[in-house]
Amino acid sequence: MRTVLIAALGLICALPALATDMPQKPVRLGLCAACHGETGMAQIPGAPNLAGQRLDYLRKALQDYRDGSRNVPLMRAAIGPVSDADLDQLARWYSAQTPQPQAAAQP
Ligand code: HEC
Repeated sequence: MRTVLIAALGLICALPALATDMPQKPVRLGLCAACHGETGMAQIPGAPNLAGQRLDYLRKALQDYRDGSRNVPLMRAAIGPVSDADLDQLARWYSAQTPQPQAAAQP
């Protein structure tokens, strides 16, 4: 009984923390997950891990792909005409993820 109570208390304490630390899952995450994974660990050879990368760097990289100053057709096609707000949300999401050991990312 005591264990259950402690577990329940732990959960109650953890929930608000999760809600505030982790940004909301971006609506457009599906556009990116095939290559970068939902949590920013690359799913295909040649794609970079994004988990835990600096927010300002991710934001700038996405803007550079979109306006073509970083001209990688693959990423330009993936981003398409996604809005600033969406790019910002994606950058925040990936930046907030915790990088995992490589073994976990390569099944
Ligand atoms: C078809 C696979 C693919 C998809 C889909 C894709 N990416 Fe990429 N992404 C790549 C590859 C490959 C690179 C490396 C490109 C380069 O050399 O600049 C990259 C690079 C990036 C970078 C730069 C990383 C760095 O360290 O400079 C960011 C940020 C990024 N992708 C975010 C996204 C987001 C957000 C989405 C969804 C809107 C997305 N990508 C969709 C394959 C993909």
